[in-house]
Amino acid sequence: MDVTYVLLLSSLGLAQVIAQDCRVPVGGNNMGFKDDLPQTFPNGTKVIFECNVGYMPAGSPSITCTNGTWSPVKLTCERKSCGSAGEVENGDLNYEGTEFGDKLVVTCKTGYIMVGNSQFTCGKDGWLGGRLPVCEAVACDAPPMLTNGDFSPVRDSYNYLEVVQYKCQKDYTMNGSSLSSCSKDGKFQPAPPTCIVVQCKDPDVTNGEWMSGSRPPYKYKSAVTLQCIPGYNMNGAQTQRCELNSQWAPGLPTCEPVLCEDPDVKNAAKEEGSKPPYKVKSTVTFSCVSGYTMTGTRTQTCGLNGQWAPGLPTCAPVLCEDPDVKNAAKEEGSKPPYKVKSTVTFSCVSGYTMTGTRTQTCGLNGQWAPGLPTCEPVLCEDPDVKNAAKEEGSKPPYKVKSTVTFSCVSGYTMTGTRTQTCGLNGQWAPGLPTCAQNKGNGMAIGLGLGLTVLIGSVLTVLGCYFCGVPACIKEKKRSRRGFPVNAAPSADEEVALSVRCAARYT
Ligand SMILES: *[C@@H]1O[C@H](CO)[C@@H](O)[C@H](O)[C@H]1NC(C)=O
Repeated sequence: MDVTYVLLLSSLGLAQVIAQDCRVPVGGNNMGFKDDLPQTFPNGTKVIFECNVGYMPAGSPSITCTNGTWSPVKLTCERKSCGSAGEVENGDLNYEGTEFGDKLVVTCKTGYIMVGNSQFTCGKDGWLGGRLPVCEAVACDAPPMLTNGDFSPVRDSYNYLEVVQYKCQKDYTMNGSSLSSCSKDGKFQPAPPTCIVVQCKDPDVTNGEWMSGSRPPYKYKSAVTLQCIPGYNMNGAQTQRCELNSQWAPGLPTCEPVLCEDPDVKNAAKEEGSKPPYKVKSTVTFSCVSGYTMTGTRTQTCGLNGQWAPGLPTCAPVLCEDPDVKNAAKEEGSKPPYKVKSTVTFSCVSGYTMTGTRTQTCGLNGQWAPGLPTCEPVLCEDPDVKNAAKEEGSKPPYKVKSTVTFSCVSGYTMTGTRTQTCGLNGQWAPGLPTCAQNKGNGMAIGLGLGLTVLIGSVLTVLGCYFCGVPACIKEKKRSRRGFPVNAAPSADEEVALSVRCAARYT
């Protein structure tokens, strides 16, 4: 077919006369040329086709070149069929197909084991691969004897799916499955167990102790529950199980000392005490910083539960109470709440006077310093005016607006104001009067004077009687003109007048 054939022809009249050669022929599917192709295909040349391997020929295989044209290809090539390969008892034949090149796989039914070849191919002369296999029923040999155990039933051979049960002797624990069956590969599955001695050691945990569960000796599946002694916390699983490998699972816990957290109290400082880590019974003592006061307990102890006991204190700002001074008002100053260094200034209301310090400062102890003042009513002293008596009026103590009225004793004349009022400044207003003695000195003079007045008066009466009343009265009136209006003649004047009148008419 790879021969190149070149036609050298004249396209004109010559063609009619000279017989033409054929080109390389083209066959049908799955066929080739039987012999080597000739160099040229002159008129009358015969070519024979042949089916490819595995293909069956039908029809005439030859074609002839006639005057440049090949006769039609009559040959057809069909794939060879191998047909059925036969039957396998207790097995299946799985055909890919039955024609040339197709494959066949033989399988045995479950419980049967194949003896022989399982794969076949359809060849040009039938199935390739030899004889069909045989499917033999599965049988297992007896499993090996167990050390420290046995199994049942005991036989020479076991059928497919037959089961044996294993047992371990007393004090031995089975590692593996107690049941095993004859499987399709002719072996017992799963593999036989082993009989082993399982013994776990005492679950020894430092600072821990047995709480509940199994007691020694600890065999397979023994379970113990452990606990830590007070002051220790468990790290790990409390309950442990003795496993096949004679170890506790999930693994022994540890007991760690209980620790209290580093305690923090706002606005407080720790004084000398335990240092972290704070184990049980550690103590820490707090003191509030200046200006803060503690609520709670200063000294805390780390408890078994890892908590500080009796419970951390708090430090709150020291506050002074709202100061109250009777009869006083607060002036501009700090407003409540009164922290340390707040100041309040008081002034007494009208009519009261302060004892103490006006401006108070809230001290670190929550007390006002230097100490709240008091406002006492303003009092006037008991007023004392010499030679005077107090008339009806206020009684001591003399508060503001109390009044006292004085009158001089006989023989004394007042200078100033009789009635005095206690002023806001504690002073009598407008100011105490004085009582001055009338003219003359001493008691003797007074007595003499009195006698003279008496005699004078007698003489006047007599004089008026003897020397004419009208004249005497007239004289008296005239004499009075020399005295100030509304001023009564003094005793001296009275005496002088009487004496004068008496002298004239005597
Ligand atoms: C139990 O059997 C398994 C599987 O054969 C093995 O790997 C394991 O070590 C055995 N355990 C003990 C404790 O003997």
